[in-house]
Amino acid sequence: MCKSEELSEKSVPLHIGKRAPTHFVTFSDTAGALPLPLNSSKANMEKNYKRTLVTAALPYANGGVHIGHLAGVYVPADIYVRYLRLRGRDVLYICGSDEHGVPVTIRARKEGCTPQEVVDRYDKIIRDSFRDFGISFDYYGRTTSDTHAHLAADFFRHLYDKGEFVEKESEQYYDEQEHTFLADRYITGECPHCHAEGAYGDQCEKCGTALSPTELIHPKSTISGSTPVLRKTKHWYLPLDKHQAWLEPWITREHADWRSNVVGQCKSWFDMGLQPRAVSRDLDWGIPVPVEGAEGKVLYVWFDAPIGYISNTKDLRPDDWELWWKSEDTRLVHFIGKDNIVFHCIVFPAMLKAHGGYVLPDNVPANEFLNLEDDKISTSRNWAVWLHEYLVDLPGKQDVLRYVLTANAPETKDNNFTWKDFQARNNNELVAVYGNFVNRALQLTRKYYDGVVPAPGEWTDFDRQTISEFNGVKAELERLIEAFRFRDALKEAMNLARIGNKYLADSEPWKVIKTDPERVKTIIHLSLQLAANLAIAFEPFLPFSSEKLRTMLAMGAPRWDALGSTDLLPAGHSLGTPELLFEKIEDEVVEAQVQKLLDTKKANEAAAYRANEVKADIDFSTFEKLDIRVGTVKACERVPKMKKLLKFTIADGLDDRTIVSGIAQHYEPEQLVGKQVCFIANLPPREFKNGLVSEGMILSAVNHDGALSVVTVDREVLPGSEVG
Ligand code: 2FM
Ligand code: ZN
Repeated sequence: MCKSEELSEKSVPLHIGKRAPTHFVTFSDTAGALPLPLNSSKANMEKNYKRTLVTAALPYANGGVHIGHLAGVYVPADIYVRYLRLRGRDVLYICGSDEHGVPVTIRARKEGCTPQEVVDRYDKIIRDSFRDFGISFDYYGRTTSDTHAHLAADFFRHLYDKGEFVEKESEQYYDEQEHTFLADRYITGECPHCHAEGAYGDQCEKCGTALSPTELIHPKSTISGSTPVLRKTKHWYLPLDKHQAWLEPWITREHADWRSNVVGQCKSWFDMGLQPRAVSRDLDWGIPVPVEGAEGKVLYVWFDAPIGYISNTKDLRPDDWELWWKSEDTRLVHFIGKDNIVFHCIVFPAMLKAHGGYVLPDNVPANEFLNLEDDKISTSRNWAVWLHEYLVDLPGKQDVLRYVLTANAPETKDNNFTWKDFQARNNNELVAVYGNFVNRALQLTRKYYDGVVPAPGEWTDFDRQTISEFNGVKAELERLIEAFRFRDALKEAMNLARIGNKYLADSEPWKVIKTDPERVKTIIHLSLQLAANLAIAFEPFLPFSSEKLRTMLAMGAPRWDALGSTDLLPAGHSLGTPELLFEKIEDEVVEAQVQKLLDTKKANEAAAYRANEVKADIDFSTFEKLDIRVGTVKACERVPKMKKLLKFTIADGLDDRTIVSGIAQHYEPEQLVGKQVCFIANLPPREFKNGLVSEGMILSAVNHDGALSVVTVDREVLPGSEVG
């Protein structure tokens, strides 16, 4: 999500920073215990915190919220804070719209409106989606707020005054007609690798190669269409190289218990060596850099956005926000997606440390990505399930989505959302297990006892065994949720429903009622206690259904410490009206969703065809000049130091010819040996920097996602055969 905002950086030699003080701790039940030695995760688990500040990545206000966002960040964080609140912990859940940055200006330009209008529109859409899905932020703010502008500017100024930045001049493209420097995404040109037109200054979307703007052939400003010129410009850099000395042990030793994907990604940054990172941009949308000589410059969006966590806390708690950010007994947890790891584990901590006085994150439970029907979720290709559309098509089914996204959460690896799995989990788990148990318990109470909880007799061994199975779940849920293992925790909660179902199925009250009606009172009494336990256990995960269940049971507010109790609903207590907790989802419903995606795919294919406009007509004699032949690949190898190139030896019917092709990122050389490929035989030889000469061009098809597929023949032909 952040790629377009990256600036290429060069290292600047700097002194090494001082070691950071250790400060990690986790919460436990009692406040006020002495801090333990802080160099082991066991010690961390035992340190006490007084409050937990949970942040969720600020979504860019240039688009809506889709299931990938929900699964990756907002639902897990919501489960966590709901759980902490149930346990009576002091917790704040902070988020807000990320409203600066180049993507907003690009959308505004495309839509012919101002950036402010763009963010106003999407901020509302995003807020509504979060509200509709029960994402229980304590505060959802905006980075265009005044509080934020002041706080972010003050933060920058403080670092500037402390000499924490490095000033550096570099050459960047400038549009002389529009009198503006150009962000990477505002420059297009020919890709130096696949020679596609329209490659961006940061990436060629045809071949997927990451680029820097100066690599583009014939660069053009997308604003005026003119050729940009290189001009010197000054920026402020956060010298991350200086911070590596404390960041590296802080993460790899003291926080080695963070998720392995998080620690692993940080390690690879450390291994490459951290580089200074520019924290200002030449742009007219953002927070002005608050120092002399910075006219026309704004704070880099990734500098201001995380400060948004602080300013949003300040807006919520103007009087004691500092307690939440600066007190050693605050525990800070950032929920993010994996593309944000470097910013939350390296850049933001370096900013906080450089500033001084702030706590650092105690954990950053980053999720991997969620794919949709085996394809990467993509806003630009509209390959997504948008929350606002979901609720139109599946009204009232927020918890079904929350359930499926948690059961299938990409906690340790990328995962896949399919509508078939969505339907199966709803029908086979929510309806058949949880809903079925609750419904049977309530309906039987209504039928036999007019909706009033019956008084139990003596527990049998089977009852006791069921109760003991329920008892163990509380501690297990706590252990898993506190370790950010929400997927497993949900499984545990569902297991409770399975225990309930089994209890009813095995004790068969509908049969026993004929022979031993007293025993049935005990069975129903206990079943209702189990149902009430489910309302508590599922509350962090499925808040809408928990509330519905509590209403059916006429139960008060959920209390976590009551989980496992068999005294939640006393004998004589009148229940509410039973309703179905979940409903079966029919095939037509999911088929319609799959069809919607197929339509999107079709529309994308058509758009890709239109985008690659058919070139101007040529006359037939021009076509005839092109000599396309079939050749057999005799050998294929990588080219040292040129990671995109493969060198082919092709039998062309007459001789062996060498062709160099930029497809190394799409094939292993040995996959191509023996294949018959099509190549243009009458192009002038082309010499590469390293002296290699290519005698032709191998034809490849370019897929919509930039993947290349070599053009081959359907049946073997003699090498040298003409294609025409
Ligand atoms: O990747 C994103 O969507 C960013 N808008 C996340 C920002 S998180 C934080 F730093 F504010
Ligand atoms: Zn390319």
